[in-house]
Amino acid sequence: MAQDDSFKKIVSHCKEYGFIYQSSEIYDGLSAVYDYGPYGSLLKNNLKEYWWKSMVQMHDNIVGIDAAIFMHPKTWKASGHVDAFNDPLIDNKDSKKRYRADVLVEDYMAKIEGKIEKEITKAKKRFGESFDEEMYRQTNPRVVANLEKYNAAKDRLAKAMTDNDMADLKAMIEEYDIADPDTGSRNWTDVRQFNLMFSTQLGNIAGEEGKLYLRPETAQGIFVNFLNVQKTTRQKIPFGIAQIGKAFRNEIVARQFIFRMREFEQMEMQYFIQPGSQKEWYDYWKKTRMKWHEALGTPGDSLRYHDHDNLAHYADAAVDIEFKFPFGFKELEGIHSRTDFDLGAHQELSGKKLQYFDPASKESYVPYVVETSIGCDRMFLAAMTNALVEEEVEGTGNTREVLKLHPALAPIKCAVLPLKRNDDKLTGKAQEVFNSLKASFNCQYDDVGSIGKLYRRQDAIGTPFCVTIDFETLDDNTVTLRDRDSLTQERVPIEKLEGIIRERVDMANLLKQL
Ligand code: GAP
Repeated sequence: MAQDDSFKKIVSHCKEYGFIYQSSEIYDGLSAVYDYGPYGSLLKNNLKEYWWKSMVQMHDNIVGIDAAIFMHPKTWKASGHVDAFNDPLIDNKDSKKRYRADVLVEDYMAKIEGKIEKEITKAKKRFGESFDEEMYRQTNPRVVANLEKYNAAKDRLAKAMTDNDMADLKAMIEEYDIADPDTGSRNWTDVRQFNLMFSTQLGNIAGEEGKLYLRPETAQGIFVNFLNVQKTTRQKIPFGIAQIGKAFRNEIVARQFIFRMREFEQMEMQYFIQPGSQKEWYDYWKKTRMKWHEALGTPGDSLRYHDHDNLAHYADAAVDIEFKFPFGFKELEGIHSRTDFDLGAHQELSGKKLQYFDPASKESYVPYVVETSIGCDRMFLAAMTNALVEEEVEGTGNTREVLKLHPALAPIKCAVLPLKRNDDKLTGKAQEVFNSLKASFNCQYDDVGSIGKLYRRQDAIGTPFCVTIDFETLDDNTVTLRDRDSLTQERVPIEKLEGIIRERVDMANLLKQL
């Protein structure tokens, strides 16, 4: 399936089966804001549970908090967000459309990368087994020329972003002959910086004094509570604070469904460490977080590390875990070595000491921090991308759409289905079985359709197990248990159902792999 088609398929599947709706759809929607439907909210909660347990339950030195979205406005001055949380913006004078200048250059680079990959795929086919990709990259004149072009653009973009050089960004757009992707116009304004924070006003204070921001990251709620948490939980360094919560960014380019939203959710953990140990912990969290993704069964070639070319204002090292979304490899999670930038800045602006007293060395210091930060919505999109497949059902000539989510993530764990809907004995027994399971996990009773249709619907929402109540059930209290992925059907006694399903959908199956 073409990349565009597979993305469209995911978006329409999310809508059709109650995973995600456009926000305020009856008013034609609100751009880059989405609502999670019944199955979407269950899946999202399971992703959050997996993350939370992997951090808080699995580490005796990581604790969780739930800080407020509103924070004192000085927070954002100290963190650097008021002055530096900007994206370079450019308008097209003809189409009146607004773009991120750096994204236009990145898209230009992606096109060059696409040409290189096409050339290599063609050569692989031509040369077969004997193909030496590395050699080809170094010697084929077209590939070499495109690689040079790509690297030159990459270095120049990184420098322009680090130096805050908006004039050079504009020059790049002109020199690379970049046109408005929608209209082809090259009539551009200058590039200017645009702050991404949403602001609002405290009710009882007028003017600048009462200006509040909606938090653009959850991390600052952790930093300002660092000492509260350390003292009240008696943690010793190294220790971590984890948090899941909403963040808000006034994104200029709001495309790609839930990949880039204006209101989204982050799962962040700040790990407080001794200055000088940041390299060791940075490497540790890089590996640990990759393992978390791999445990879900994500194929190895869908994940990769990407070191940041231009570092955020707070970081001395940063890497993204990128995932192969239908529109290419993009950032899914960031691991940042934030030094003592945040605690140091809050200490200075608040005038309150944010230091840790080391009982062993009898010294006080401002701890360094390594952060892991993943967008819950992006993780949702990655999970859907991995899971949604259309496959042939062996021996039938039919195809089925199936969401092969890890059972621990599946919104509904088990569906209880009577073989016939107009037989009171079967439906009554099915209701009875459903009632016996519903306290243990999310189950669904369904009799609206033929058994084949009921199976297809459960496949489409990712239910790992279907329990079918048939005439044999009425005689011997056994049911068929259908496995979503293998399509095998086993006969099991009703009294064993709960235990069998519980064991297979248990979140511990994921956590034990970490
Ligand atoms: N505290 C560090 C921080 O916020 P970031 O790289 O700006 O770093 C972290 O964001 C993660 O949050 C990203 O890797 C991404 O998964 C998610 N994220 C950022 N902006 C987003 C947006 N507009 N929509 C959805 N997710 C977003």
